[in-house]
Amino acid sequence: MVVTSVGINSWHYELSLLPQYLEKLFAKLRIAVVFGGNCDRQGAVIYKTHNPRSWKSYEIVAREIARALTEIGFQHVFVIPDDMNLPAQLKEQKIHLVWLNTGGVQGYNPVCHTPALLEMLGMPYVGHNPLNSSTLDNKHAFKRELQSVGIKTAPFMTWHPSQGIFQPNLHERFAIVFGDYRGPFIVKPVSGRASLQVHFIDKIEGLSQAVSEVHRETHNTALIEKYLPGREFCVAVCGYVTHAKGCFTKNAKPFAFSTVERVFEPEERIFTSMDQKAITADRGRLMGEEEPELKQRLIELACKIYWEFSLNSLVRIDVRSDAEGSLYVLEANPKPDLKHPDENVTSLVTLGLAEYGMSYNDLIFSLLADRLDYLLTQHIAIIPHIVDLLR
Ligand SMILES: Nc1ncnc2c1ncn2[C@@H]1O[C@H](COP(=O)(O)OP(=O)(O)O)[C@@H](O)[C@H]1O
Ligand SMILES: [Mg+2]
Repeated sequence: MVVTSVGINSWHYELSLLPQYLEKLFAKLRIAVVFGGNCDRQGAVIYKTHNPRSWKSYEIVAREIARALTEIGFQHVFVIPDDMNLPAQLKEQKIHLVWLNTGGVQGYNPVCHTPALLEMLGMPYVGHNPLNSSTLDNKHAFKRELQSVGIKTAPFMTWHPSQGIFQPNLHERFAIVFGDYRGPFIVKPVSGRASLQVHFIDKIEGLSQAVSEVHRETHNTALIEKYLPGREFCVAVCGYVTHAKGCFTKNAKPFAFSTVERVFEPEERIFTSMDQKAITADRGRLMGEEEPELKQRLIELACKIYWEFSLNSLVRIDVRSDAEGSLYVLEANPKPDLKHPDENVTSLVTLGLAEYGMSYNDLIFSLLADRLDYLLTQHIAIIPHIVDLLR
């Protein structure tokens, strides 16, 4: 055993030690899986305010993640909402590590609130740091960064409610971005989910009304972008450590998997999300080896995004192609659905795990192990409360 009473700074860690450390952590590590608190619940917030992002609790999936952690062997797993009682709850339950499965409670940039709070509390977590959470959940901010690292995304501009009525012909930015292009366009919220408030607008004349509609619903910036008429894909990507067939591996690249083509119905232009139609085998087609080059392009795109943004947790990237088949990134979902697959309904992320000999529990174990490996390798000094459990 390498962990002794020596100071943690002289402490040595490598992946081969992880299984024996996990044996200790199974019995001692107290994990909280946190879902979105409901601001309508008595005592959840001081004042109820606006949420520009459509709220969802994600509690069912939080319980599925918790169940997987328990099946993996962790003996102390709790499921807690992320309202204003969270810090007290974490303290009371003596939690060592949080798993974030929340989009936040309310207010602007809600996806970053809980990681920011955990940073303040000194609590390590599985999930994105506050800056990445915010960047990923603000499509325009993410797209600007994509452009800066040379990753294609549909040409776009934004319009904030404070800028008044949107009149495309009067705005220089519109001419710079779209030139002679007159449609079709997509108008959508910068912070949205589940295709809510995503408008297909055939001609420039319809833009102003759609932008006003997004403003009315979200009180937040609207995104106006070129409509991409091609096929649509998703690809998931997470960290370097994976668990499959009972073993951990540290890969040279992030683990990109579940390359899925979204199957549209005739006349369906915008993919109808899982909130309205469950993800069944006929809605998402796992890409096999029919188009190996395309599949590889998606995998490389996902790895590049993970690397360029220094991500440290799972994202699902939504991609669409233009008429010529070039790939454009629509968004990266900071908290993709991690539903436990059952007979009929699955999630876009878990659809392709079998290709790597992985189960749902293997994915959950991979995400947790990757975070522990990262903390033990890079940040040993800031997790003394976890190192103490290994002694
Ligand atoms: N520029 C675009 N061109 C074509 N379709 C788009 C475009 N932007 C969004 N869509 C459609 O709308 C859906 C939802 O958009 P997306 O940006 O992924 O937001 P969210 O999933 O957060 O609602 C996509 O899956 C796609 O079908
Ligand atoms: Mg999407």
